[in-house]
Amino acid sequence: MKKEVKKHEIVCESSNVNINNNYICAADFAIGNKIGKGAFGDIYWVQKKSSKKVYVMKKVYQNPKSYNREASCCAMVNHSCIVKYHYIFFQKHKEQKYLYLIMDHYPRSLKSYLKHRKVEKQTIPEEKICLFLYQILNGLLHLNELKLTHRDLKPENILINPANDKVVICDLGSAKNVDDGTYNKAYMCSRLYRAPELLCDCELYCEKIDIWSAGVIMGEIYLMRILFPGKDANQQLEYIEQLLGKLSPKDKKKLNSGFRDVNYTVEWKYDNWQDVLKSHAKTEFSPEAIELIQGMMHYDPQLRFDVKQCLSTPYFDKINIADIPLS
Ligand SMILES: Nc1ncnc2c1ncn2[C@@H]1O[C@H](COP(=O)(O)OP(=O)(O)O)[C@@H](O)[C@H]1O
Ligand SMILES: [Mg+2]
Repeated sequence: MKKEVKKHEIVCESSNVNINNNYICAADFAIGNKIGKGAFGDIYWVQKKSSKKVYVMKKVYQNPKSYNREASCCAMVNHSCIVKYHYIFFQKHKEQKYLYLIMDHYPRSLKSYLKHRKVEKQTIPEEKICLFLYQILNGLLHLNELKLTHRDLKPENILINPANDKVVICDLGSAKNVDDGTYNKAYMCSRLYRAPELLCDCELYCEKIDIWSAGVIMGEIYLMRILFPGKDANQQLEYIEQLLGKLSPKDKKKLNSGFRDVNYTVEWKYDNWQDVLKSHAKTEFSPEAIELIQGMMHYDPQLRFDVKQCLSTPYFDKINIADIPLS
């Protein structure tokens, strides 16, 4: 049967996303209040006029001068730990091209969730933290399987439904296959969650930059405060060095070069996690939590755990698969 093609461009013919989007455009949705604002896109409540189903819509301006991978990445993903995209389409408005992403709604980002818990002076029990991390890491595992690195993992880009502790990764606006043999932009990922090799301007990094970010997020949930609150890239690295050991200029060069070389001179301060968590953590923590965070936050990307290593640490032994909310 011949497909009817509307005047706007369609991205995801054979994706996991509802193929009916061939017939979808912005006018098919009643647009409600703006609920979020990111660097590149605004987020609105929307209701699909025909089905009355309620979603969230992200509308992103497409700069014709720069290549934007968000649509193709969103069309690839299909996993319970990544926000579900129902419809993806481009549409022109006053000669400017926009990407529309229609997805499930989540009541909070992890950032606003943590802020709320802090204001309410509520700590987060370790079993809950474990459940959150399990879902974040499974989301990363799915991205890895698609050869995608998120490159902007941070609490704002993690969504949560506090009613059932469902957690998903969102915002694939920076995602990319970083292992395609080309150089990648080092100026990626929000500073507070940026891996040390990125802070050293490395352009040959790998997917483990996301593991670093996940480790920083893990520390932040236990401590209920930003782990490394650097005001600029230098200060960011200084905060990391205070905790993990001072990098020599030679170490920084190695981090910058992206060579897989374990011969660093930095004296790795393993014990610090124990001390930091003991004196500052708002939640009781287990030795397994220390083992995991140490593995996630290694300077050397080669020694840093990959996502499968993280998931196979004893920290997750207590996870009962039946407890993982599906949606
Ligand atoms: N599906 C969603 N449900 C609820 N809030 C969302 C959803 N998607 C995004 N948001 C909120 O909007 C913010 C911006 O969205 P995001 O996709 O991260 O845009 P940007 O690429 O501009 O950072 C997020 O930090 C989050 O707070
Ligand atoms: Mg974002």
